[in-house]
Amino acid sequence: MMELLRLLVLGMALWATTAVADTNLDIPFPYNCSTKTTCSSLRLKLPNENEEFNAQLVNSSANNNSTLLFDLTNKRGNKLALSISAIEGKRFRVIVEEHDEHRYKLEHSLEKEPNLVKLTIVETSNISVTAQTESGSKIIVKTTPLSIEFYQDNALTSIFEGNRIIFEDTEESEAFTFSVQFPNANRLMGLHEHADNLKLRHTADFSIDPYRLRNTDYGTTEYSLNTTKSMYGSIPVIYGFGNKTSSGIFHHNAAEQWIDINNNRHSAYFMVDGGRLDLFVLLGPSLPETVRQYVDLTGKPHLPQLWALGYHQCRWAYNTTGDVMDTIGNFDTYDFPLDVLWLDIEYTSERKWFTWNASSFPDPVKLLNWVDAQGHRKLVPISDPHIKIDPAYKVYNDLLNGGWFVNNSDGLSPFVGECWPGNSSWVDYLNPEARDYYAQLHLYENFPSTSALGGYWNDMNEPTLFDNLYERTFPFDLVHHGGVKHRDVHNIYGMLQTMSTHKGLMTRDNGTLRPFILSRAYFAGSQRYANKWSGDNWGDFEDLRYSVPMALTSNLVGLPFYGADIPGFFGTATEELLVRWYQIGIWLPFFRAHAAQGSPRREPFRFGNKTQAILRKNMQLRYKHLPYWYTLFYENTVTGDPILRPLLYQYPEDPVGYDLDDEFLIGTDILTTSVYESNATSVRIYFPGQSDKWVLINGNSTHLYNGGTWANIPIDITFTPAFYRAGSIIPRKPRVLRSTADIKNDPLELHIVLDDHQKAKGRLYSDDFESFKYQNEKEYLYYSLAYDDATSTLTSSPIDTDNSPGNLTVQIDRVVIYTSDNADQMTVRKVEIDNTGKKLNTINFINSSIKL
Ligand SMILES: *[C@@H]1O[C@H](CO)[C@@H](O)[C@H](O)[C@H]1NC(C)=O
Ligand SMILES: *[C@@H]1O[C@H](CO)[C@@H](O)[C@H](O)[C@H]1NC(C)=O
Ligand SMILES: *[C@@H]1O[C@H](CO)[C@@H](O)[C@H](O)[C@H]1NC(C)=O
Ligand SMILES: *[C@@H]1O[C@H](CO)[C@@H](O)[C@H](O)[C@H]1NC(C)=O
Ligand SMILES: *[C@@H]1O[C@H](CO)[C@@H](O)[C@H](O)[C@H]1NC(C)=O
Ligand SMILES: *[C@@H]1O[C@H](CO)[C@@H](O)[C@H](O)[C@H]1NC(C)=O
Ligand SMILES: *[C@@H]1O[C@H](CO)[C@@H](O)[C@H](O)[C@H]1NC(C)=O
Ligand SMILES: *[C@@H]1O[C@H](CO)[C@@H](O)[C@H](O)[C@H]1NC(C)=O
Ligand SMILES: *[C@@H]1O[C@H](CO)[C@@H](O)[C@H](O)[C@H]1NC(C)=O
Ligand SMILES: *[C@@H]1O[C@H](CO)[C@@H](O)[C@H](O)[C@H]1NC(C)=O
Ligand SMILES: *[C@@H]1O[C@H](CO)[C@@H](O)[C@H](O)[C@H]1NC(C)=O
Ligand SMILES: *[C@@H]1O[C@H](CO)[C@@H](O)[C@H](O)[C@H]1NC(C)=O
Repeated sequence: MMELLRLLVLGMALWATTAVADTNLDIPFPYNCSTKTTCSSLRLKLPNENEEFNAQLVNSSANNNSTLLFDLTNKRGNKLALSISAIEGKRFRVIVEEHDEHRYKLEHSLEKEPNLVKLTIVETSNISVTAQTESGSKIIVKTTPLSIEFYQDNALTSIFEGNRIIFEDTEESEAFTFSVQFPNANRLMGLHEHADNLKLRHTADFSIDPYRLRNTDYGTTEYSLNTTKSMYGSIPVIYGFGNKTSSGIFHHNAAEQWIDINNNRHSAYFMVDGGRLDLFVLLGPSLPETVRQYVDLTGKPHLPQLWALGYHQCRWAYNTTGDVMDTIGNFDTYDFPLDVLWLDIEYTSERKWFTWNASSFPDPVKLLNWVDAQGHRKLVPISDPHIKIDPAYKVYNDLLNGGWFVNNSDGLSPFVGECWPGNSSWVDYLNPEARDYYAQLHLYENFPSTSALGGYWNDMNEPTLFDNLYERTFPFDLVHHGGVKHRDVHNIYGMLQTMSTHKGLMTRDNGTLRPFILSRAYFAGSQRYANKWSGDNWGDFEDLRYSVPMALTSNLVGLPFYGADIPGFFGTATEELLVRWYQIGIWLPFFRAHAAQGSPRREPFRFGNKTQAILRKNMQLRYKHLPYWYTLFYENTVTGDPILRPLLYQYPEDPVGYDLDDEFLIGTDILTTSVYESNATSVRIYFPGQSDKWVLINGNSTHLYNGGTWANIPIDITFTPAFYRAGSIIPRKPRVLRSTADIKNDPLELHIVLDDHQKAKGRLYSDDFESFKYQNEKEYLYYSLAYDDATSTLTSSPIDTDNSPGNLTVQIDRVVIYTSDNADQMTVRKVEIDNTGKKLNTINFINSSIKL
């Protein structure tokens, strides 16, 4: 996390030797492939006749005729069992393990066990077995040697390559390998989280390390860029994008893994430290379908409360009640919108979570009531999984007495390591009793607070410990509940913390408020509980640049609510960079500023009037687009579709956009980019879609650009260009006040951008912005909107038929119509609506129209 304090801890270590005898902070880390045997030895193993497996079909009627079972044997006499199941929604599941099934079976990542569908053998021969489903999915299992070809609608999507299977099965190692090829792909994407470009790089020539997935804290420094090194989160998903068909895989396994990417043949070779080979094969055939096939397995997020989409102000740290009140007060004095102020580790008593520092936060409930009175704003405190060893700390005693800490390799004594509070033990979230205990700590009676404590920030949950000997995280031989080795569950530890925190918040508020949890560690499925930021970045243009592909990849792998610390956690961003970072920050789903300890204060109101004016205008642009964001967030909860989209997702037929990951779409209708260098006077941007047109919304003029062209957009420091797609209707809030709460009931302003046919379409979702009624009682409004300029008619029609509007309404006060009079310019005309009786969900407007 944070440099200065760590140096302090190190400084203390020099004289307080007993407390830190087991720390090794000088050892460089993270380790690389050459220093980890799973990678260094397995990477060199090429296909070898003695190792490759032959397959023999042993059962074709398992699981109601959904599963084919094969015995695998090789010349060395190794024996394995292979099962291939057909899953609804154009997917297969491939499991390889020893016959006695002794390997750890991962839990909690899948939202539910997927439904199987019938898989019928259509042909068998000496060398292959062919089977297919009723939805056009087909496998050809080649038996000597094994390989599995996957087809959708008779197009080959991927090949599970049996000649690279190695299974180690000894006391020391349960490592294994496998390889998948995407023969029709042009590029591979995925393997979140890496500070790298959208397109996965070629690693198979050994010039760089394989992509590594092992949740890891970088610790004293910012994370590295342009690298395959592991980061805080792991989502083992790869998409093979092709200009005709796309497909993907999800490796359902939470152990450390290294993945060599070969971009010449579009294949991925996995080297995995333990657990089962449990591979979901996603047959597409489009990229959007492939993404949905993945997200459907691990689940969609629930909607965030509206305030979570507002602006978040963080630093390490707002140390006192006075600092919190002054800071929030200044946001109002200087007229900046703000929804959340964050509390870093200093609010506690001695870094004991679920305690307040009695001298700096003497009356937290009074403070929270005050925060609530300032526009229903929120505080969000940090809360980590390590627990200070202190016999006077009730939480510690309860966990110790319950047997709810992670144990040493003896399986009996709690592991002790060093983190923020000094010597600590770690909650064993694999244990359901420990999760329940931890959950109830969030109740108002157990941690004095109110619902103005809007959620929690689960940090250091890779988990981090201050000991480089183990790459600042747990040794692999620690033992969890049920005798599970840490090695097998490492990457899911942080997710289990957020699962427990989520339950705590659901219980705290009787299920009436949607929990908000920010997590640094992440695994496939975490999106059901938490959102994420990219961790400890640095204040320079390069970090700003990489935050965009990181957010795009994250959105493609089911984790839409992602952002990076503005304007870089470490370092002191120049004022120019800070401005640029806010200008891109408003277009990332999670919009938070943060600052390391000791960095100069840099809240927006601390700058000169000119910079303030720029920041204010840009932050307001975020708030004005809240109805558009909220609609996209809702749609993501239903479909799993990403909120931020790389061009190739939306325009797969347009090759110019394939490798562009510095510009991106928000939904389908807003295009933006960032300014990635100092003193820029223009930004070069590509406009996707031969038949689309794009209008500049925040520059000097509403210039119109044709799809399929590049343009240099002149800029100054006041704005980073953003564009609306012609033919869209963007719902906006016309005014911005203190917070989202202040404007949530305001009428809307629709921005209608006419296409060449003088028409436009959009969608609008609305609900109570905070509860689960939208899920439980289907109480929400969801309309498609259409405008036809020939008749000046705006029409709305409900998209769903089974929702109930309750007493919800939205009102449209004004439309802003963008018309193109000449080739490269649009004129903007405002029309005030006499909205008496014309609210959406009033009898006059449902499924009907108004004449403007
Ligand atoms: C891997 O780490 C070793 C030991 O620290 C170092 O000598 C080597 O250069 C590193 N290799 C790469 C590819 O970074
Ligand atoms: C095949 O699987 C089915 C269902 O699990 C089982 O009933 C049957 O005995 C199995 N047949 C063989 C030959 O193993
Ligand atoms: C097979 O289908 C039957 C009837 O639909 C069901 O009761 C049974 O649980 C299924 N068995 C398996 C192994 O899925
Ligand atoms: C599986 O297929 C066999 C052969 O077609 C058939 O006899 C059997 O009833 C099927 N079992 C189920 C549960 O559908
Ligand atoms: C990223 O790393 C590769 C080598 O792995 C190097 O060729 C390339 O120039 C680097 N790109 C940047 C922007 O530093
Ligand atoms: C589509 O992909 C094929 C290879 O898969 C390639 O030969 C062709 O050039 C690609 N077309 C475009 C427009 O990128
Ligand atoms: C907040 O508290 C920490 C730890 O006591 C201290 O190092 C830091 O200087 C304080 N920050 C401010 C702004 O007072
Ligand atoms: C939750 O329910 C309990 C019991 O019905 C009630 O006492 C409490 O006030 C409720 N809390 C909230 C936040 O609604
Ligand atoms: C900045 O704006 C404030 C409020 O409008 C004004 O009082 C002050 O004079 C301005 N400062 C400068 C340097 O322009
Ligand atoms: C940007 O302009 C400033 C002021 O002219 C100059 O000091 C700085 O070096 C320039 N930065 C770059 C990257 O050119
Ligand atoms: C916008 O217009 C102002 C005033 O005419 C001018 O000073 C500025 O350079 C223009 N900015 C851009 C990016 O064209
Ligand atoms: C809608 O109804 C709920 C109770 O179901 C009530 O709390 C709320 O105030 C009502 N809202 C409006 C705008 O009438």
